[in-house]
Amino acid sequence: MDDALMYDFDAELKDNAEMVERELDRLLKPDMLFGPGEPPDRLVDAMRHGSLNGGKRLRPLLVRQAAAVFGVAPLAALPAGIAVEMVHCYSLIHDDLPAMDNDDLRRGRPTVHKAYDDATAILAGDALLTHAFGLLAAIDHLDAERRMKLVVQLVQGSGAGGMAGGQMRDIEGETTALNERGIVKMQAMKTGALIRAAVLMGATLGGASDDQLNDFRIYAEKAGTAFQLADDILDVTATTEKLGKAAGKDADAGKQTLVGLIGLNAARHRLGELVHDALTALQAYGPEADGLRATARFFATREH
Ligand code: IPE
Ligand code: IPE
Ligand code: MG
Ligand code: MG
Ligand code: MG
Repeated sequence: MDDALMYDFDAELKDNAEMVERELDRLLKPDMLFGPGEPPDRLVDAMRHGSLNGGKRLRPLLVRQAAAVFGVAPLAALPAGIAVEMVHCYSLIHDDLPAMDNDDLRRGRPTVHKAYDDATAILAGDALLTHAFGLLAAIDHLDAERRMKLVVQLVQGSGAGGMAGGQMRDIEGETTALNERGIVKMQAMKTGALIRAAVLMGATLGGASDDQLNDFRIYAEKAGTAFQLADDILDVTATTEKLGKAAGKDADAGKQTLVGLIGLNAARHRLGELVHDALTALQAYGPEADGLRATARFFATREH
C-alpha cells in the first residue's frame, strides 16, 4: 500500500491532543464560563488544573474517529469531544478524592484536592460536568434534534446507569465480593459507558443509521471493556512514574478487578480477545474506520 495512504495513528493522537488542549484552554476562562455571576478564580483555576496539560484525550479521539467514518471533519467533531473530555476530567477529579480512591497524583501532578482542597475539587468536578452539557446544547452547526441526541447519549454515559453508577459499584465492591460478571458489569459502567458515549456521539454527528449505531455500540462496548482491563493490568505491571498516577494500588485498596480474579496471563489473553471482537464489529466498514481500529489496538498495547 502507498505509504501516503496508510493511516498514521501517532500523528492523529498528537493532533487530537493538541486541538483538545487548545480548545479546553480557550473555554476554561472566566468570560467563557457563562452565568449570572462571575466565576470565582479559585474554581476556574481548579477546573483548569484538572483538565489542562495532560491526558491522552482518547475520548475526544473516539468522537472524532467515529465521526470521520461519515466524513465529518475533526473541527466539527471537537465540541462534542470536549464535552466528553470535561465529563471524563470531572470523573477523575472525583475518583481521586479521599472519600473515593484517595489518590495524590494524577497525570504526573498533584490531584485537584491536593493542590486545592476537597470542597474545591468537588465543585470543580460539578462545574465541569455541568458545563459539558451546555457545550452540547450550543453546537450551532447542528439541528436541535441532533443536539438533543448527543445530550441523551452523554447522560447515559455519565449518569446512574453509566459512569456514576459504575463508580458506585466499584466502591461497593470494596466491601462486597463480586463475581466475574459483577466485575465486568461494574467496569462496563464506570469506564465503558463514557467510551461508548464518545463513539455513539461521533457516529451521531455523522448521521449514522440505527444499524450503523448498533455496529458502533458493539465496537465501543468491547473496546471500553478492553480499556479498563488494560488500566487494571497497568496498575500491576507499570510504574507510578510511567503512569503519572499511583501504580500498584488496586489490590491494597480492595478493588475488585479481573486481574485479581483470573490472574495477569488470563487477563492479557482476554484483552486480546476483546480487541479482536471490537475489530470484528467494524467488519462492514472500509479504511475510513481505520482510526477506530487503531485506537482499539492501542487500548491493548498502551503503556500508560
Ligand atoms: C483513566 O483514563 C481512568 C479510567 C477510566 C481507567 P485515561 O487513561 O483515559 O486517563 P487520561 O485522561 O489519559 O489521564
Ligand atoms: C476510574 O477507574 C474510572 C472513572 C470513572 C474515573 P480507576 O479508579 O481505576 O481509574 P484510575 O486508575 O484512578 O485512573
Ligand atoms: Mg476508581
Ligand atoms: Mg482511581
Ligand atoms: Mg485504575
